[in-house]
Amino acid sequence: MSKLLFIQTLGCAMNVRDSEHIIAQLKEQDYEITDDVNIADLILINTCSVREKPVHKLFSEIGAFDKARKKGSKIGVCGCTASHLGGEIFKRAPFVDFVLGARNVSKISQAVRTPKFISTDINYDESEFAFGDFASSPYKSFINIMIGCDKKCSYCIVPQTRGDEISIPAQIILREAERSAARGAKEIFLLGQNVNNYGKRFSNAHEKIDFSDLLMRLSKIEGIERIRFTSPHPLHMDDKFLDVFCNNPKICKSMHMPLQSGSSKVLRDMKRGYTKQWYLDRALKLRQSCPGVAISTDIIVGYPSESEDDFAETMEVLEAVRFEQVFSFKFSPRPLTPAASLKPLDDEISSERLSRLQNAHAKILDEIARAQKDKIFDVYFEELREGGTACGRSFSNFLICAQGGEELLGKTRGVRIEKTARMALYGKVIA
Ligand code: 5AD
Ligand code: SF4
Repeated sequence: MSKLLFIQTLGCAMNVRDSEHIIAQLKEQDYEITDDVNIADLILINTCSVREKPVHKLFSEIGAFDKARKKGSKIGVCGCTASHLGGEIFKRAPFVDFVLGARNVSKISQAVRTPKFISTDINYDESEFAFGDFASSPYKSFINIMIGCDKKCSYCIVPQTRGDEISIPAQIILREAERSAARGAKEIFLLGQNVNNYGKRFSNAHEKIDFSDLLMRLSKIEGIERIRFTSPHPLHMDDKFLDVFCNNPKICKSMHMPLQSGSSKVLRDMKRGYTKQWYLDRALKLRQSCPGVAISTDIIVGYPSESEDDFAETMEVLEAVRFEQVFSFKFSPRPLTPAASLKPLDDEISSERLSRLQNAHAKILDEIARAQKDKIFDVYFEELREGGTACGRSFSNFLICAQGGEELLGKTRGVRIEKTARMALYGKVIA
């Protein structure tokens, strides 16, 4: 009889993919997924440690799992927090059975078998490991193209949890994409910490290939209609990359450009490697050469050296680029990072700046949403919602919903927008 696996995933798309890898390995060991923690034989939490909040959440969650679980079940902690806290997790939560770092998920079967198993080596090389096959969506596939991160951003814990950057060989990526097309998924979503730095280093001798070449090769696979990726780094947005992005018809026209700060001084302190001018130049070029492109970003407010003038420059970039989506965060000091030792700003100042930024962006978003009325978008339908509604994404990544059901899922249809809101557009299928 098969055993039951309950898995909770926090954090980024990278973690979602790691969970898929874990599930694929465990399915080979006869595990089936359950969403009921009470009956699970194995309870896993795949964690994030990029900010302090999810770390606190980890301990409250596993405490609750411990209370709810059935006798004889096991609890494992995986992911970024497992990498950085390691054995301390056993000390703080002695009921945990194993700890598996973000770069060690290929060892999941061994972890389940071995009492108090721990593996958190951030230099462990999983770049050529043949993970089993599991996709959480029938319509799209997440594909890792690299592991780790070579950047030294002063605030970021990721290099300490995911180790050095290694690219996954192109033939493995192409094979996964072909497999994905063969199962009928029309979209692939490429994942890595700095995807447009792809090809700098492989574990073994490898052909010379960069991210733009990889995109071109993937776009030739029959059956793949949409290619998305996250995250590119503004520093590596050279003209070749922007040209391929804008001109290849299979590449979705939504670009994530993590700004972090609009002040060149703060960017230097953060060791981001680009200036405000470089960022604005790239964003402008993108807007000019790629009509209809949507640009999203990440912004950190309240970095320790951020003055009111520096913050005003971030607001300036916000108004200049008019992002379609902004993920904004208050600076959170993280262990093992250079910025952790800096004197933090007053929390009230950071909170006030965060709300000013978010309010200004809400206004921009309202204007962007209203401007979409009566436009027609090609929507790839992926999910059903209540009230006979189906939703999907436009090429530019707008969430668009329309009346409809099963018959729309996995199909791309033209939708004319009738109603707009900040987070979603609503329309009628016309073709
Ligand atoms: N504090 C706040 N936000 C952070 N991020 C990364 N590290 C921190 C930190 N210490 C944000 C960045 C990054 C996103 C994934 O999380 O904006 O792009
Ligand atoms: Fe993803 Fe970074 Fe969070 Fe790890 S720490 S889960 S890489 S966002």
